[in-house]
Amino acid sequence: MAGRLENQTARKILRGLQSHYPVFYLLGWDEDRMERLLRSVARSYYGEDGHLRVWSASHGFGADDDPAAPTADPLAAVARVSAGPDAEPRMVLLKDLPTWFDANPALVRGVRDLYYRLKGGRTVVFLSCPLLKLPEILKKEVFLVEMDLPTESEVLEQLAVTRGAQEIPRDQLFRVAAGMRGLSLNEVGHLSARLFRGKPMPEAEMLAAVQEEKGQILRKESCLELYPPQPSLDQIGGLENLKEWVRTRADLFSEKAWRDKVPLPAGVLFMGVSGCGKSMAAKAIATAWNLPLVRLDMSLVLSGSFGTPEYAFARATRIAEEIAPMVLWVDELENAFGFDSHAAGSAGNVNIFSSFLTWLQEKSPRVFVAATANRIQQLPAELMRKGRFDQLFFLDLPNVDERKEILRIHVLRHGGHLEDFNLNYMAASTEGWSGAEIEQAVKSARIDAYREDRTFNQRDVIRNVIDTVPLSRTMMEQIREIKSWVFQRAINASRPESSGKGDAGPPKAAE
Ligand SMILES: Nc1ncnc2c1ncn2[C@@H]1O[C@H](COP(=O)(O)OP(=O)(O)OP(=O)(O)O)[C@@H](O)[C@H]1O
Ligand SMILES: [Mg+2]
Repeated sequence: MAGRLENQTARKILRGLQSHYPVFYLLGWDEDRMERLLRSVARSYYGEDGHLRVWSASHGFGADDDPAAPTADPLAAVARVSAGPDAEPRMVLLKDLPTWFDANPALVRGVRDLYYRLKGGRTVVFLSCPLLKLPEILKKEVFLVEMDLPTESEVLEQLAVTRGAQEIPRDQLFRVAAGMRGLSLNEVGHLSARLFRGKPMPEAEMLAAVQEEKGQILRKESCLELYPPQPSLDQIGGLENLKEWVRTRADLFSEKAWRDKVPLPAGVLFMGVSGCGKSMAAKAIATAWNLPLVRLDMSLVLSGSFGTPEYAFARATRIAEEIAPMVLWVDELENAFGFDSHAAGSAGNVNIFSSFLTWLQEKSPRVFVAATANRIQQLPAELMRKGRFDQLFFLDLPNVDERKEILRIHVLRHGGHLEDFNLNYMAASTEGWSGAEIEQAVKSARIDAYREDRTFNQRDVIRNVIDTVPLSRTMMEQIREIKSWVFQRAINASRPESSGKGDAGPPKAAE
């Protein structure tokens, strides 16, 4: 039993009990798990004679109901608890009771009365609900406990009792359990019933199915979005300093390094010119480190669809920590926190931003934050303070060697033949172009050629290059500002270009 109370939720409940709260609000989904937990809390709190009564609108108090006074009505249930002996060592779970608060002000009153009636006694009442529906006027009387998600070992226990689990090697079961962190035990039960049916599935297929299911659930329940596998570092042209930084840390998020207590990098911030691969690099880290990529959608946090922004943010980061290890991608920080206004003195969303800073400092090291920013001058200086991010990288417009690499990658990706291109010449023709613009020129070339039913070639690309004015020409001033700002604040993601522009590689066949 003491082992059970290692459980974080139980510890939170105990804190409320020690403060003599008689009414609790339990926020969570898994009712079976909730009941098991409360039974063990009751025994540990009261000793062996402690017990749990459970009420629901469909069964009343079940066998404990008095046939002469049925309690299917929530008000009657509250009245019944209130009339009971408050010296009895018991806990009462009233399932879903908060769902009636909106429609029934008398019930809200009933719960307040119950609080005054039970205060100082031994009976404790738990109102459970998967949603937070706590009326303002009850906030002072009710102790709120949000159930933690099942731990890896709870998930493993649940998996082990699913039919078909015996056919699956124990270490595979363990990895599947790790992949399922973040799901409720009911969800684990349903998903494993499907996955363990019939002939055992290959592990990779099983893990992919788990990721897919988890992605859907995360999206429904929080402001997190699980991304499908992303391009690898090899798909990024140039940015050699950045890639090396990522590669040299690839093993740190393994189980072994975790057990050996190697300190983990907390996060990285990519700043710089639009279209130079900031978002792409953030995503590629997940692939390089073999971790799931999850995006924190700040516009959803601020939208109010998931409760107050403070609540939505706290919940999203908590879930992120519970399903770690992962790369948490926070894109365009200045927009995310409302610092993007062009008006001077834009304060941004100060509350959420300071929660973010605190969280960055306190978070579980197994959540690696990959953040990006464009208009960095607008971000408050404290974000850049040492210790918040392990490294700040500046992504500049690609140099000639990098443009060559980027061209090579995109020509190949779009099915072009490298022998039809003189990459040195093309790299020289795209000075001042961002990676995104180069990609766009290749894409347009492909479309032009497709209309004529042939493979695209260098001439198609060059035609598109000539027709386009790169952003850097129209935004010269802005880019200069960014550069002078990051100078000495961040390290360059690129290595300096090799001297002698044409020597960067063997020239490919001429046009
Ligand atoms: N170094 C690069 N190598 C290969 N492709 C690149 C590179 N940089 C940019 N690209 C291409 O440009 C696309 C856009 O890049 P990305 O979205 O990462 O830029 P960004 O810096 O996040 O821009 P923004 O600030 O506008 O969001 C990428 O998906 C990729 O296809
Ligand atoms: Mg981006």
